[in-house]
Amino acid sequence: MDAIWKKRFAKELDLDIAHFLCSIEDDERLIAHDISANRAHIRMLKKNGLITARDHARMDRALQDLNAQYAQKKLMLDQACEDVHMNIEMQVKKRSGHHAGSLHMARSRNDLIATDMRLYARKSVVMLISDCLRAQTALVNHARAHHDVVVPGYTHLQQAQPVLWAFYLLSIFFKLQRDCECLFDAYVRVNISPLGSCALAGTAHKIDPEFTAARLGFRRFADNSMDAVSDRDFLCEVAYVCAQIGTHFAALAEDLIIYTTQEFARIALDDAIATGSSIMPHKKNPDCLEMLRARAGSLIGHVVTLFTVIKGLPSSYNRDLQCTKRAFFDCIDTTHACLRILPCIIANMRLLKNDWATTPALCCATNVVDHLAAHKFTFRKAYHAVAACARRAQGKVDTFIKECAREFTLEPNVIAALLIPVNAVQAKCSKNSTGPAQVRKALARAQRIIRNSQRRIKQLRQ
Ligand code: ARG
Repeated sequence: MDAIWKKRFAKELDLDIAHFLCSIEDDERLIAHDISANRAHIRMLKKNGLITARDHARMDRALQDLNAQYAQKKLMLDQACEDVHMNIEMQVKKRSGHHAGSLHMARSRNDLIATDMRLYARKSVVMLISDCLRAQTALVNHARAHHDVVVPGYTHLQQAQPVLWAFYLLSIFFKLQRDCECLFDAYVRVNISPLGSCALAGTAHKIDPEFTAARLGFRRFADNSMDAVSDRDFLCEVAYVCAQIGTHFAALAEDLIIYTTQEFARIALDDAIATGSSIMPHKKNPDCLEMLRARAGSLIGHVVTLFTVIKGLPSSYNRDLQCTKRAFFDCIDTTHACLRILPCIIANMRLLKNDWATTPALCCATNVVDHLAAHKFTFRKAYHAVAACARRAQGKVDTFIKECAREFTLEPNVIAALLIPVNAVQAKCSKNSTGPAQVRKALARAQRIIRNSQRRIKQLRQ
């Protein structure tokens, strides 16, 4: 297969160099987008009288034929053609002969690759929003099914205050909700067409890039042709959101890993999602959670890769930009794979029964302070007095109760009742707190948010 620029060179390209430059491996997933961009482009050329209806019909038929072949997994990209764009052009030429000569009129591979990547990123963003929504739904379902379970809430991984398990799950829900919002926002900036920017400077042909943009479902044409062919910040933005999603699912994974240990023994993973050891017969390991935790690392790495490739490039298109594809594709694949398994993990974790919620616990000491502050002390004075009792009690609940009862001349059973975790949770009434009434409201809100996102996603073009 001769290179398109054959006439410019006296020699053929060295095979190793050709192989090194080739992007076919990464380009497979751009095929359908490249065909769509080609079809929109020639439709515009026809409308503006730049090609004949006959040329358009021949090329469009060839492109549709390629689409069908691709759908049947029969379209193979040829390594000799360097990239997806050359391959499609070569295939159209094969099918429509000299009629294909105008396919590349008023455009360049530079605006074409930017267009393909935007189409790909747009589709991916919609997919990731759906993935987030499924994970959010699983969290809400699990939270509703266990709405009255009280667990220790931690700061510094030390028992801090009791909370509802549903409240904890909602904390993850709202993190994912921010991720969803970021994806919806990114969609707006991704959804702009570079097609018609040509190599960097636009063209002398009378084209209509707004028409092409509309046919591809883009919001509008880009503001500046030089910017449009060189810009990859839309990839960085989506990759950043993926890294953020990663930190969120890794945080959940880390918590669950801790809660499944024998020491914490708060939850158990169903056998369907746990793994064993090849040497220690008693083991049940949370490998899937550990993998989730680790994958966040690669997502952060991809953001760094993308910025590092782009940073310091001279203006407009440089071949370096080709190297943004692999990192971006892996970003999408990894985030998708991780979000997809979250519902399965959430549905397969079982809360272990224990009487912690109904037994007095020192992590309710703030309740004693609050009780005193509401009656006879300022908050700080009460805090100091209760802290002194805690020091004397050395972690022993019974001693703490006795110390407090003596210090504040209260019945020990009044102190004991204040230290019961379920009472402490029920006493919480501030907005968006762990109080049961607040959590009920938050769960209802979460369901409204999910329905709203589902509506919004339907309005996005996929
Ligand atoms: N294969 C290239 C890429 O993926 C397409 C654009 C090539 N343009 C060029 N002038 N070499 O970025």
